[in-house]
Amino acid sequence: VDINESLHTHFGLAHTRWATHGEPSAVNSHPQRSDKNNEFVVIHNGIITNYKDLKKYLITKGYEFESETDTEVIAKLIKYLYDNRENDSVTFSTLVERVIQQLEGAFALVFKSRHYPGEAVSTRRGSPLLIGVRSEHELPTEQIHVQYNNVQEKNSHNRTDSSNAINSNEDGRAVEYYFASDASAIIEHTNKVLYMEDDDIAAVKGGELSIHRINRQAGDDPVRAIQTLQMEMQQIMKGNFEAFMQKEIFEQPESVVNTMRGRICFDTNTVVLGGLKDHLKEIKRCRRLIMIGCGTSFHAAVATRQLLEELTELPVMVELASDFLDRNTPVFRDDVCFFISQSGETADTLMALRYCKDRGALTVGITNTVGSSICRETDCGVHINAGPEIGVASTKAYTSQFVSLIMFGLMMSEDRLSLQKRRLDIINGLKMLPELIKKVLSLDEKIKTISNELYQQRSLLVMGRGYNYATCLEGALKIKEITYMHSEGILAGELKHGPLALIDKDMPVIMVIMRDGCYTKCQNALQQVTARSGRPILLCCQDDSELMKNAYRTIELPQTVDCLQGILSVIPLQLMSFHLAVLRGYDVDYPRNLAKSVTVE
Ligand code: G6P
Repeated sequence: VDINESLHTHFGLAHTRWATHGEPSAVNSHPQRSDKNNEFVVIHNGIITNYKDLKKYLITKGYEFESETDTEVIAKLIKYLYDNRENDSVTFSTLVERVIQQLEGAFALVFKSRHYPGEAVSTRRGSPLLIGVRSEHELPTEQIHVQYNNVQEKNSHNRTDSSNAINSNEDGRAVEYYFASDASAIIEHTNKVLYMEDDDIAAVKGGELSIHRINRQAGDDPVRAIQTLQMEMQQIMKGNFEAFMQKEIFEQPESVVNTMRGRICFDTNTVVLGGLKDHLKEIKRCRRLIMIGCGTSFHAAVATRQLLEELTELPVMVELASDFLDRNTPVFRDDVCFFISQSGETADTLMALRYCKDRGALTVGITNTVGSSICRETDCGVHINAGPEIGVASTKAYTSQFVSLIMFGLMMSEDRLSLQKRRLDIINGLKMLPELIKKVLSLDEKIKTISNELYQQRSLLVMGRGYNYATCLEGALKIKEITYMHSEGILAGELKHGPLALIDKDMPVIMVIMRDGCYTKCQNALQQVTARSGRPILLCCQDDSELMKNAYRTIELPQTVDCLQGILSVIPLQLMSFHLAVLRGYDVDYPRNLAKSVTVE
């Protein structure tokens, strides 16, 4: 379809596919269909884990499959159930209800059918799904009552306030509905959204939206309220920047302020995270803190671990969600588990959350997305308030996660006398942070020049230790994500245990050496690199002339408290990865093979 063409239709169905089964190709694209006549079509975000069994069964019933996707079984299954329905009064929603009873895995689905013209049905389990509602007239209700098959509510079908449906036909003016995985997909049309729960079935029929569930169980909330998103259209536009990622890097002086706003009182040196305050006693009594995330969010845990150990005096584990689950890690009732996730929807992190919840641990969400699955399923949490992040490579969310975790440490240590001086230094450091970030951002031209010398390299090593080790991991991740160069974050302490073999006169090595407790050890690493004719590009403190003598290139950074330095030291690497990607001719915001929210395991 030519997207500029105006279509005379009341319904559109589109899908951006991140391949889990079958290569990206036309036949594997969605919608998947039940048959050549498109009797039923479906789009799917997620993964169906029992699709092989279903496929085998449907093949015995004479169905021929055309794609390699797991999704195709859903389209075939609904047709099978339709063809075998008990009578003609079976509704579209009922068919979908029967379909999901057979499905295992995670899914958000939208269905259309020739047999049910003017109707669309959607459902979810595990994968996110929300419904945008746009109307020119005031809606008669701001919430929908769920209709249950097993409950004949006294007035559920003829409520006088008609709150079991949103109706399109008031004054003859239509309401538009949008089903989407993420609010940023629909925000240009409406900021009114309704979040669906697992196993909800939403139907739009004759312009009316209703939500059904099979069975009402104790504790179910029978109401889905329409919420108004605070996202502004301009917030998610690129402005004067070449890419969203670049815009988001440059937003960091403001985004870290938004993370701290209303939480730190610089007069009294107190920190209050509203979402945690009622649980603070329980957290202080815990056996250990476990911080769990994927990708960049995991790096935020690595970056703040040392300070959290110092301020909470508790053992702190940092875990990659997938590995944590692979190991069936022991978790106890008196553990406190943090789930760090920009999107709040990452499947691995979400599953780790459910795993810890099942074992009775207190669960804390650190997310950037209000209303996301991780927000809703954790006992308590912190919204990092970094604003929408569109670029697949995470930047401002990282620094805001970093600041949030530091604030948590400050809140935990408020009554520790011996830590007051330290706390004060950190709080002052946070106060100065936006100005210092601006200074780092002003190095952009210099970083661009260095990137010009590097962009044809095949490999880039990033080395450091202590508080800046996370910067090495995160910098290397940025570089590989968007420039497709090989890059590795190396703990300088491990240099002599292997990575030193990589060093020669052609190997560019970025070394992060700040004036902190690891300074002398890092100097040794620098010497080992220069002794092997390596070409170190130094990220160091301003005026560290001694160090600079040994450098091939230097990027001088303003100094802050040791535990906050990682916020400043990561920014040059964010900028460098951006410039390298542009110079290499790649799409910075949409790197190949990667997705912003990975909602499959
Ligand atoms: C994906 C993204 C990464 C991100 C990771 C975790 O892999 O490409 O940029 O760091 O997911 O995402 P989350 O939303 O949980 O922070």
